[in-house]
Amino acid sequence: MGTIWNKLMTICLVIEIIANHLRVPTICFAHNITAFFVFGDSLVEVGNNNYINTLAKPVFPNGIDFPKGAPSGRFTNSRTIADIIEEELGFKDYAPPFLAPNTNGDLILKGVNYASSGSGILQPSGLIFGGRICMDKQVDYFAKTRQDIISRIGAPAAQAMLRNSLYFVMIGSNDKLTLFSFDFNHYVDGVVSKFKSQLTTLYNLDARKIVVLSSLKVGFMPFEIDIHFCGQDCVSPLNKLAKLYNSKLKSLLEDLTKNLSGSTFVYADYYAVVEDLINNYRSYDFEKANHACCELIGRHGGLFPCLPVCRICPDRTKYVFWDPFHLTESANLIVAKQLLDGGLEYVSPINIRQLANS
Ligand SMILES: *[C@@H]1O[C@H](CO)[C@@H](O)[C@H](O)[C@H]1NC(C)=O
Ligand SMILES: *[C@@H]1O[C@H](CO)[C@@H](O)[C@H](O)[C@H]1NC(C)=O
Repeated sequence: MGTIWNKLMTICLVIEIIANHLRVPTICFAHNITAFFVFGDSLVEVGNNNYINTLAKPVFPNGIDFPKGAPSGRFTNSRTIADIIEEELGFKDYAPPFLAPNTNGDLILKGVNYASSGSGILQPSGLIFGGRICMDKQVDYFAKTRQDIISRIGAPAAQAMLRNSLYFVMIGSNDKLTLFSFDFNHYVDGVVSKFKSQLTTLYNLDARKIVVLSSLKVGFMPFEIDIHFCGQDCVSPLNKLAKLYNSKLKSLLEDLTKNLSGSTFVYADYYAVVEDLINNYRSYDFEKANHACCELIGRHGGLFPCLPVCRICPDRTKYVFWDPFHLTESANLIVAKQLLDGGLEYVSPINIRQLANS
């Protein structure tokens, strides 16, 4: 019995090593993750802002293609990147918004979503929207969920469950959009050092498998292209800022993985994935790379948010951008796929599927 088991384990290990090299998933050691926790801004929100007083609420036509119908609480026509990744990892339901009154009981054992549109790493970011849950507060809320889980299943089981969960963090775009400083380096250091304290707190609360997304190339957004009256790459100072932030974020995550035992902080390069998608949009079967599908004014539909008065493009699958800032579900599907199964040019040190199975 023992020897057969050992042989099986050896075969499995070999399959796993080969599969990792070829970047194909295997069920050999499929330790499923227990829960999926989401932190972030409008790129991954699923409805927290419906419970606070804010301008940043996704109304119709947002969610127009969402299976459960609009309003979906999401700033896109259907699913977010986090939704798609959750499905791919085998979750039957999306992690529910923390502030929804029915997010309690056994539901929280599968994960919770704390994301809030307009929010940032720094507390003042997104002030213009009114209410929002900044990253510090999202981490506080997670600490509350953790206490609830401990009281439901006991501390040892809670710890095991939380350590085997996936943490998806997509925040930072509002920290850069509200930039008034010209001292980029100093500004970026401030954001990254704040983020470091938040990520370390997550580790102290038993998070171990943590995915952090990089910041988008700002100059791709219909909003930026339209307000600057120029082509794709003219917003170069803002693009430089995003690049500077991303390189500092990447080395922070490498440091954290080295310093915090048992942790893996994955750098998921949203910038690189979307850059590839936009540069090669035709080969991905899109027709419009920089034009908002839900639009009212602006040469690229970038000067007005997606509201009921807007026009919607007839075929949502042909547009990379849903509105002046957010991608369509079709674009999100491609991004999610690259982050789940892609190579080191998009996600490092391992991809999300490898992280989930680790
Ligand atoms: C593990 O995840 C797969 C999908 O990736 C799912 O089909 C399966 O039911 C899950 N197993 C357990 C034990 O949760
Ligand atoms: C990691 O540890 C080294 C050595 O103790 C320290 O210099 C560095 O600041 C730490 N980095 C992080 C991100 O904690």
